[in-house]
Amino acid sequence: MVPLTPYLMTEKDRVNLLNWFLTNQRPLPWRKNRDPYRIWISETMLQQTTTEAVKPYFEKFLQRFPTVYDLAMAPLEDVLENWAGLGYYSRARNLHKASQILAKNGFSKTYLELIELPGFGPYTSRAVSSIAFDENVGVLDGNVIRVLSRKHNKALEWWRPNDRRILQQLADDVVADGPSHQLNQALMELGATTCLPRNPKCILCPWMKTCEARKADTIEQLPLRKKQRDSEIWIWKPTIQVRNGKILLVQNNYAPFLKNEWILPGEVTQKKIAPAGFDFRHSITHHDIFVKLQKADKKSMSRLGQNKDSKKINKSLAQPEQKWVELKQVAKISPFSLMTKALKSIEISE
Ligand code: ADE
Repeated sequence: MVPLTPYLMTEKDRVNLLNWFLTNQRPLPWRKNRDPYRIWISETMLQQTTTEAVKPYFEKFLQRFPTVYDLAMAPLEDVLENWAGLGYYSRARNLHKASQILAKNGFSKTYLELIELPGFGPYTSRAVSSIAFDENVGVLDGNVIRVLSRKHNKALEWWRPNDRRILQQLADDVVADGPSHQLNQALMELGATTCLPRNPKCILCPWMKTCEARKADTIEQLPLRKKQRDSEIWIWKPTIQVRNGKILLVQNNYAPFLKNEWILPGEVTQKKIAPAGFDFRHSITHHDIFVKLQKADKKSMSRLGQNKDSKKINKSLAQPEQKWVELKQVAKISPFSLMTKALKSIEISE
């Protein structure tokens, strides 16, 4: 563990950071006001992708669910549909669950209350409590980790709990005297626009003169890089079965991606090398999926549609829940890109 050296940020550093943010912040849609609901939705979306990519999703989501009450009362399918394309659908499910608690009890204000809610981890709880309610708690995301590792020239293994605690203390210290709603966003903004992973724009940085990594010429080495998890190659053979305008879906208990979601029935096999023939390829987190579409013939159709023969398909698995879904409704129940692509491929090949 790297020992925590005395805290080195000066009042001047904080003032410089704050002034830089006040003049340079981007006019983002979730910065129009400090409504905790808006902040929560935006911070949840921002954990998945870039600011530019989030903007249209955020606007659309807020139009459809303008308040926490609208979200709480909406059917889950509508929430998933409006999340489609952002990935990590468990986040959308948790948003829905937490909205029902917040709508009933009122919006919790503190980090310690928020972290009790479904889907609220340390990042979201701290971001909402500080940005919406000015609680003086630091927010730690990838950008802040980069900025603080460089500012203090600390080679911290940020993925390990002990080093993460040190970074959390450094972040907490920046906002200790507030205004945390601005200082936290300033740190994130500095990382997103200026203290870039490669070719940082040091000349524009409010901390250029006091940045320890710049003095030591270690900027390019920091923060330390975590070894990426190797991606896994999977072949997915989904079976397309359509009857009277309905398609058969199962609640996934057989593939390691989109667990428990409604997807096409089928089988998966893990491979060491990429296969040659496939219909399309799609990645979900560390799963590199090669898709080989199967059209159900009469024999397999009757097999797939009946529970008693299911063991032949997936020997070791319990029979998954299955249902016939109107083709027009599939995107609501199963809005995942992998499924959209699979269904598009059938239209094209027909
Ligand atoms: N990244 C995630 N949340 C952010 C915010 N509020 N400001 C700037 N960058 C962010």
